[in-house]
Amino acid sequence: MDEHKPRVLLTGATGFVGGRLLPNLVSNGFQVRCLVRSASGFAGSLPPEIKAEPVEGDLLKPGTWEASLDGMDVAFYLVHSMGGRNFSEIKSFAERDQKAATHFLKAAEAAGLSRIIYLGGLGELGDSLSEHLASRQEVGRILQSGKVRTTILRAANIIGAGGAPFEMLRYMVERVPVMICPRWVDTPCQPIAISNVVDYLAGCLQQEDTAGLSFDIGGPDIISYRELMLIYARVRGLRRLVVTVPVLTPRLSAYWINLMTPVPAGVIMPLVEGLRNTVVCRENRIRDLVPARLVSMEEAVCTALAETEKGPGRLPSTQSCFRRL
Ligand SMILES: NC(=O)c1ccc[n+]([C@@H]2O[C@H](COP(=O)([O-])OP(=O)(O)OC[C@H]3O[C@@H](n4cnc5c(N)ncnc54)[C@H](OP(=O)(O)O)[C@@H]3O)[C@@H](O)[C@H]2O)c1
Repeated sequence: MDEHKPRVLLTGATGFVGGRLLPNLVSNGFQVRCLVRSASGFAGSLPPEIKAEPVEGDLLKPGTWEASLDGMDVAFYLVHSMGGRNFSEIKSFAERDQKAATHFLKAAEAAGLSRIIYLGGLGELGDSLSEHLASRQEVGRILQSGKVRTTILRAANIIGAGGAPFEMLRYMVERVPVMICPRWVDTPCQPIAISNVVDYLAGCLQQEDTAGLSFDIGGPDIISYRELMLIYARVRGLRRLVVTVPVLTPRLSAYWINLMTPVPAGVIMPLVEGLRNTVVCRENRIRDLVPARLVSMEEAVCTALAETEKGPGRLPSTQSCFRRL
């Protein structure tokens, strides 16, 4: 651990992205405190070589977590509120996202934090953006509106074992030989491998020039969801057919995906609604500031499959998307 490096608060450490970022930060000598909703469960799940301080708190319960900011310099904001036990909770994620971000910014300002690094979503406002993607943008706007210099990274779907987009892809292509899809299957997207997301998040921490700025991040392939499904099928040696039909509402698609995959409905619904929105980088400035070897979607799928085979427990967050409420 390097005493001169900024001290880091990691929110979302039990999640898909936060769980992958944590080992990278620790191995690079950062002192990391993890804000988690269950400290005992989290501490028990960490491999011995990952030394991090867990602090228990819930961002939606004022008074439970603010002390986690004491003595910290930089915070990663890697949380969202999708999920829920019933229809009304599933529908109200944007309200919870807004509440958590507003309160987080206020507490970060009071604690004198120097930076926040937030991972949000691609997609353009005014493009009849889905509620989920609009909420991700709103969180970025809130965090950047205060005194703390906030870096926003905007990503499309992230490909890695245990992440909701990859698990939806995996279960659908494995289980359904002929996929009947609505028009969203041909929406352009620029997915990114989880390893590249970690490169950029960790890179922004080390690169002061990224403070206070927003960057689009994406992999080397601009493809459609149809092509992504066919890449998965090709890697697995499966013969798959994707058929487009003009009328299949996002809600019907979501019910169908919910039947075919173990990903919870509260996560599927908002994600599927967003599949109609083009999610492609508008600019690539991050590539100059944080150089990284960009991983192709074929390689990202291969890596995710290899990690899936190792099974839960080998990665901190392999099954994170299945643990939603
Ligand atoms: N996955 C993707 O493809 C993707 C794509 C683009 C952007 N992003 C962004 O990346 C970030 C992380 O996403 P993810 O995929 O890692 O999500 P995830 O696996 O669902 O993890 C979400 C994390 O947020 C925590 N959390 C939720 N509500 C909380 C609260 N009230 N208080 C404290 N912690 C709370 C969860 O803790 P518990 O374990 O206690 O539930 C979990 O650690 C989000 O901002 C998301 O929008 C993800």
